[in-house]
Amino acid sequence: MFNSAVVFNPSDGTSKRFSVPVVQELASQHLQSLPERYIRSEKERPNAFPLHHLDIPIIDMDMFWGDSDLCRQKELENLGMACQEWGFFQAVNHGIPLSLTERMKKIVREFIQLPLEEKIKYKMQEIEGYGQAFVISDDQVLDWADMMALTTLPPDNRKMEFWPTKPEDFRESVDQYALEVQKLGNTILRLLSENVGLTPDCFLNMCGQMRQRMRLNYYPPCPRPDLVLGISPHSDGTGLTVLLQDDEIVGLQICKDGEWIPVQPIPGSLVINIGDMLEVISNGIYKSIEHRAVTNLDRDRISIAMFYGPDKETEVGPAPELIDELHPCRYRRFIQADYIQHVFSGKLDGKKSIEFSKI
Ligand code: OGA
Ligand code: NI
Repeated sequence: MFNSAVVFNPSDGTSKRFSVPVVQELASQHLQSLPERYIRSEKERPNAFPLHHLDIPIIDMDMFWGDSDLCRQKELENLGMACQEWGFFQAVNHGIPLSLTERMKKIVREFIQLPLEEKIKYKMQEIEGYGQAFVISDDQVLDWADMMALTTLPPDNRKMEFWPTKPEDFRESVDQYALEVQKLGNTILRLLSENVGLTPDCFLNMCGQMRQRMRLNYYPPCPRPDLVLGISPHSDGTGLTVLLQDDEIVGLQICKDGEWIPVQPIPGSLVINIGDMLEVISNGIYKSIEHRAVTNLDRDRISIAMFYGPDKETEVGPAPELIDELHPCRYRRFIQADYIQHVFSGKLDGKKSIEFSKI
């Protein structure tokens, strides 16, 4: 069974559709050997280089809501360090009720388990819906995953025809979760702005109207996890990403100083990372880090990524206050829509997207 992927050609604004298999269907066939199109070249394989086992920074968001200025200041420094040196952290006590994050995971699983005929009603078009993005040719190596992408905020940008009506509480849960993630995202953007000596609202003001997109990633079990990737190495083309993932199953890996580090899930936490837009706005102080996901032999994995960043019309560029003789401007200004188009017209390829803006 095939699903579709749509790719844009930025030079003439046209889009082309590619058919790619639904990986969940492939996985359910208990294949003896892996289809050729998923097999990575040797140097791209999950075990091509030894993994580096390190804990990524943990940020306790309670410290920012408590009464102690000292605790707040210390955690703000930790947050700043995490975003400068790692580009990633795990947020604990993040304020989003556990009942809601658990409900999100449940509705995503329920959606994934629907018959294909039901899911295919929401077949991906123009990067919304169920399918694959980042497929740009008939012969590129494919990721071992299916996805579902929706614009979640602002509410009037939602394309409701792509929002599943099953399970019944899908729409309402996503609506509630989107607003909670927005609150958390705003808090973090204010803290990151403050941490580089700007007014708390500076980054948010620079982003203009904020836009939020959700991507459900489904990584079916894979007969040869050593040969495939669930999601190719990439950085996120957004401001901030908030990732909710399965509690026990390790899949996400981040690239730090040239080495891959698996992110050990902490139950109840959220993984937050800096996207390309925040790297640009902060003139490179905060780093958007390359990451990927691997698959597992006998367990599937879901993740729910919320991408939060400037709206299409916003002109994005480094904050003028962060540029001086010692810190020259490192990125050129651009319209966010052009960046999105640039990202979706290529395949995922490490930190290549941001070259678009590098001076
Ligand atoms: C993404 C992503 C990682 C994961 O959706 O951009 O990096 O663990 N996902 O699913
Ligand atoms: Ni990502």
